[in-house]
Amino acid sequence: MNDSVTRNNLQLNKWIKRAWPSIILPLVVLFLFHNRNIHPGYNVSWWKLYKLARRLRRNGKSIKSGSSYRAHLAMAAKLLEISPSTEGVVVECGCFKGGSTANLSIICDFVGRDLIIYDSFEGLPSGGPNDRYTRDAQGHFFGALDTVSHNVEKFGVLERCSFRKGWFIDTLPEHVEPIVLAFLDVDYQASIHDCLVNLWPHLIDKGYVFTDDYTYTDLCAVYFSEEFWQREFGTNPPGLIGTGTGIAMGQFFVGPLMSMGGNRAYPLQSPASTAYTRKDYTGYWGYRRENEEKNE
Ligand SMILES: C[S@@+](CC[C@H](N)C(=O)[O-])C[C@H]1O[C@@H](n2cnc3c(N)ncnc32)[C@H](O)[C@@H]1O
Repeated sequence: MNDSVTRNNLQLNKWIKRAWPSIILPLVVLFLFHNRNIHPGYNVSWWKLYKLARRLRRNGKSIKSGSSYRAHLAMAAKLLEISPSTEGVVVECGCFKGGSTANLSIICDFVGRDLIIYDSFEGLPSGGPNDRYTRDAQGHFFGALDTVSHNVEKFGVLERCSFRKGWFIDTLPEHVEPIVLAFLDVDYQASIHDCLVNLWPHLIDKGYVFTDDYTYTDLCAVYFSEEFWQREFGTNPPGLIGTGTGIAMGQFFVGPLMSMGGNRAYPLQSPASTAYTRKDYTGYWGYRRENEEKNE
């Protein structure tokens, strides 16, 4: 009895894994782009958006990638809200084999922007003492520059891309271009720190930062840390939409990641999403009871 239930479960799992992405593709397009804030200057149609989504999803099967095509599509949705006349590039920090890069290059071509890619092209550095999930992962997510540019040439739009090779601590301080959207997929606290400290000042007023490190609440905590934002920028923290579980894009994920088996969780309950903030958002808690203030 138990064996047959397990067998049936596994079969159902397999079926869902195969069918679900196709079932929800049109729904993801509908949910993400049914949006009156899309700028009319892009002249988009449902058919163009559907074709974009289909291409991004196909690429997800062709290049080994650490993020979902749905995350990339969510970035497209937000880029389409920014006026085409607003100056600014898209930046990707952390590209692995170029799966997310190829998709972002297609999106950049769609919205008429350039893409700058920062990576060591040697994989992850070694982690720090507080990097609980990827501490011993030096060299993981290795993708050589040749491999990445080959993948982008084959599956994306290479002409949109410029690659800046090296450790973030050395390369990011040299960044000068205004940024409309940055995608950070960098796994470590030190790497997140270097990306935010060096890129945030170049983000336009309503520019976006997306992160793939959204399932780890301690990594998301930087977006709510008053200490960090006051020290680095003299501002309040911006917060992070999608903290811990990602934004809703056709799949539930109750989290947290480790207790649910990470990417091996049940197909309807796996994280295949993203989280984001915008420069003008706030994640600051400023309330205090009046009598507490008086007692000071
Ligand atoms: C998880 S992978 C990126 C996955 C990719 N965005 C995708 O969706 O396939 C993390 C990447 O960050 C890069 N990385 C992390 N910390 C870095 C640092 N301090 N300097 C340069 N590259 C770094 C690694 O080389 C690796 O390519």
